[in-house]
Amino acid sequence: MKTETTIQGLTASLSPARSSRKSIGFIPTMGNLHQGHLNLVREARKLCDVVVVSIFVNPIQFGPNEDFDNYPRTLEQDRHLLAEVGCDIVFAPSVEQMYGKQPRLTNISVSDITNDLCGLQRPGHFDGVAVVVTKLFNIVQPNFAFFGQKDYQQLAVIKQLVRDLNMAIEVIGVPIARAEDGLALSSRNGYLSEQDRQTAPVIYKSLKTAEHDLQAGQALSEVLAQIRASLTDAGLVIDYVEARSPMLQKVDQFDQDVVLFVAAKLGKTRLIDNLQVKHSA
Ligand code: PAJ
Repeated sequence: MKTETTIQGLTASLSPARSSRKSIGFIPTMGNLHQGHLNLVREARKLCDVVVVSIFVNPIQFGPNEDFDNYPRTLEQDRHLLAEVGCDIVFAPSVEQMYGKQPRLTNISVSDITNDLCGLQRPGHFDGVAVVVTKLFNIVQPNFAFFGQKDYQQLAVIKQLVRDLNMAIEVIGVPIARAEDGLALSSRNGYLSEQDRQTAPVIYKSLKTAEHDLQAGQALSEVLAQIRASLTDAGLVIDYVEARSPMLQKVDQFDQDVVLFVAAKLGKTRLIDNLQVKHSA
């Protein structure tokens, strides 16, 4: 497995694959990798000839009071894990390598679907994601790109971006990887105190209960209220608990498949999760 830290180095490493028309699979990450990330790499390994993973903590997607400085940076450990799951090339650029010294004047905004859910709580976040992912796509020029359903809204934003701007990339969504107690794996789980880590699975439990209750015929508004109550009782501070269609349209009844979304703070840590609930008509 090769590690490249410059765009030039990465381009040189990928050049043989490009000239022999091998398929390139790409997984953008911010590092501190866990099984959720590694599942994306495993999917890519199954489908693609060459697998590239980027590790870059992208400053422009963090708000001023967010955790950019403290975000865990564990490159050596990440490299080790990536080698084990068959990654071919790690791209770990510096901020300067990605953004240069000149100011950036181009912005990318995917409207509507970013004015909701995490977009409301984190203004500018998805613009920052759209810019860095577009830059990375242009640098790597992959055939396939893999994103987790854990960040459901992010996946929707990237699919929209690729469609709207005619990028020749197939975007593949991969299911959420969870700990045994149901907590969605996240690099931010490492911030949780031992006690909060014990509490955190209430998010998934309340989503599973909601799924059961919806399928048993309970009204959507009641089910959402119950999720809110369970989370608040457990000591979480809710950012949002919402239901949307799979395409992120507002829904007020369970008369089609829905996705339930939770974002809540436990101590200082913001956790997100979601669950797709099937409507068997
Ligand atoms: P990061 O949070 O490191 O996540 C990288 C990829 O791993 C994302 O596609 C995310 O959805 C996926 N992922 C994280 N936890 C997962 C889990 N438990 N199950 C399945 N997939 C999971 O998302 C980002 O980085 C950044 O915004 C990025 C796209 C790299 C742009 O900077």
